[in-house]
Amino acid sequence: MISLPHFPEHLQKLGPHTGKPLDRVDGLAKVTGKALYAAEHHRPGLLYGVVVSSSVARARIRSFDTADALAEAGVVQVFTHQNRPKLASRSKKWRDQDTPKGSPFRPLEDDRVLFSGQPLALVVATSFEAARHAAALVRIEFDEIEQPETRLLERLGQGKAPGRAKGGFTPPPGPHGHPQQALKSAFARVNADYLVSAEHHNPMEPHAATVFYEEDGSLTVYSKTQGPVGEQAFLSAVLGLKKDRVRVLAPFVGGAFGSGLRPQYHLVLAAMAALELKRSVRVVLSRQQMFTFGHRPYTWQHVALGAERDGKLVSLVHEAVAETSKFESYVENVVTWSARLYPCPNYSLNHRVVPLDVYTPLDMRAPGAVTGLFAIESAMDELAHELGMDPLQLRLVNYGEKDGLTGHPYSSKELRACYQQAAGRFGWEQRWSEPRGRREGSKLVGWGMATGVWDAMQVPASARARLHLDGRLEVASATTDIGTGTYTVMTQIAADVMGLSLESVEFKLGDTSLPEAPLQGGSFTVASVGSAIKAACDGLRDQLFKLAQKMPNSPFYARSQAEVEFRDGRLGLPGHPEAALSYAQILRQQGVSVLEEEVKVLPNLLKQRGYSLATHSAVFAEVQVDEELGTIEVTRMVTAVAAGRILNPKTSRNQLLGGMVWGISSALHEKSELDLELGRFINHNLAEYHIPVQADIRHLEVVFVEEQDEIVNPLGIKGLGEIGVIGVAAAIANAVFHATGRRVRHLPIRLDDLL
Ligand code: MOS
Repeated sequence: MISLPHFPEHLQKLGPHTGKPLDRVDGLAKVTGKALYAAEHHRPGLLYGVVVSSSVARARIRSFDTADALAEAGVVQVFTHQNRPKLASRSKKWRDQDTPKGSPFRPLEDDRVLFSGQPLALVVATSFEAARHAAALVRIEFDEIEQPETRLLERLGQGKAPGRAKGGFTPPPGPHGHPQQALKSAFARVNADYLVSAEHHNPMEPHAATVFYEEDGSLTVYSKTQGPVGEQAFLSAVLGLKKDRVRVLAPFVGGAFGSGLRPQYHLVLAAMAALELKRSVRVVLSRQQMFTFGHRPYTWQHVALGAERDGKLVSLVHEAVAETSKFESYVENVVTWSARLYPCPNYSLNHRVVPLDVYTPLDMRAPGAVTGLFAIESAMDELAHELGMDPLQLRLVNYGEKDGLTGHPYSSKELRACYQQAAGRFGWEQRWSEPRGRREGSKLVGWGMATGVWDAMQVPASARARLHLDGRLEVASATTDIGTGTYTVMTQIAADVMGLSLESVEFKLGDTSLPEAPLQGGSFTVASVGSAIKAACDGLRDQLFKLAQKMPNSPFYARSQAEVEFRDGRLGLPGHPEAALSYAQILRQQGVSVLEEEVKVLPNLLKQRGYSLATHSAVFAEVQVDEELGTIEVTRMVTAVAAGRILNPKTSRNQLLGGMVWGISSALHEKSELDLELGRFINHNLAEYHIPVQADIRHLEVVFVEEQDEIVNPLGIKGLGEIGVIGVAAAIANAVFHATGRRVRHLPIRLDDLL
């Protein structure tokens, strides 16, 4: 069961639409099948490409035998590295907006096999069935099949500091104070290793690209992506086309969570085939092929904590060693959260990566934080147990009024209220201290809690607003809606700023012909694109007001803009209803057919300087563990979130619930099993790769905590896409310990861990 959300009454409003739990404006299109996804766009003569994936992880290709495949009816071509057209090679051109340091993988580059599942050929045919059948007939001979290097735990000592690898990664600072000494003399200590499994992206919509070859030789690409603008730049560079010869569209995206941040190989292959064959081509990855790229990296962590008798931390050590590929150095912020969250006079943080013969890991919802918070929040629970202290009390004793790493104050931080409100809804004051202290029938009951933290980011974004003679407002930005509710909240912002009904506003996104926007990621879309939309609409208001002042006998002639209101599609003066003029009237009288404003908005770095910007959450979970069967059920969970202004409690709650479900999934179900001999993820299907079903999800509750922030951005928005998953696995692991007395320090926790 999923409970109704707890709607706070204080939700701040820009106007009548923001702060309301409105339905998705694209909901009807989605449930009636009118919303078309990347693989659903069609044109007569479309060809279908199917990828042939490598069965080995490390080898050289000796030969291809494509004769049988080519002889199949309907097969048009089989592309391999031997006959592929020229692509930009061995150059910076393969870099995309989310590229780690290194040399990005290039499909069909040469005879080297770098990872299991690598695309080695593309079969193109007049039907999907023919292509799929022919793909099974392609025979590949390998030379020099080598043992892949796959054992992270045996190579922990070989980990290398990645340096400043990519935007968003903060290399941990050197040690502060004397962490080892302080640990030795501490009253209580925790010293433990934690492991987080690899997980693979499995959005509902598998990765797909439909590339239409236009008469003039340009490409129109329907893509499953979080960032059409980045994909356009990437594709044009790789294919050697001018940017205006490639248009990328992603009007609907069936889940992404990071899987669509980087352009993947199917896109390159589809576009390459379309250009070469001068035909339209679609490539869709199979569910099994979804396990051939981009996973949350398998990560080992060590945490040591030392505390005084009262719980105050005197030493904090957090190290991580994560896998990466041999060709790219993927890295995420895993360890820095600990010191940010818990200011400590002596700390040491370290993050290293070990290259293995696997594909490069990829950002997955709250990359780094999911991993790091599992370790630190488990360790805090262990420390509380050592101290005989309530785990929540331990967090409060170490509460960071300032960012423990930078010493900066937070622009806002209502984490304490998150703890209090979530604990209150959960009933935490009833908690019993001893593990194995409560039973219900054959089941042991346990309660656990954890903290979540994520950056509140804003990046440059553009938007355009156009007001038409009939009173319609068209707003546009080349962002995407990956299921987050972007269509809806942007419409709400525009409607409120312009004083219009939702019905008279249309928001367009997911098209490179629209004003440039960043990829949707990092939970920064509403702060970034929303700010641009607000600014564009503010510009329209200025224009409208000036036009109205110029009208003959204008009631606004001697007024300032602060005196007028924009409401119900009219410009008015409070207290003078007779003076009101509809926007349409103003445009018509002044002979303007459309009023337009396009802006690019940057984060206000001057205002933000000297502050730490973050969202926070508190997660409380109850589990029941069957002692005889070892089965674990998360019977209820409460998450309280402080994320600045909440534009739409319904879509926001949906983001939080999605995160909580994923957190349960990471805690108890998901694991990509790497066969260490073969270097191959062997449970590459949704039968063997476990995800929760409806019966695994019980009572989930979301609480939004009021948080006003005038520094992050003019809308006071911090973003919600990722915070919901962070800390959940730790809360569950802590609850499992409380229920059973058994501390499990790896994810997922499975029944055999408890038997
Ligand atoms: Mo997110 S992992 O930035 O889509």
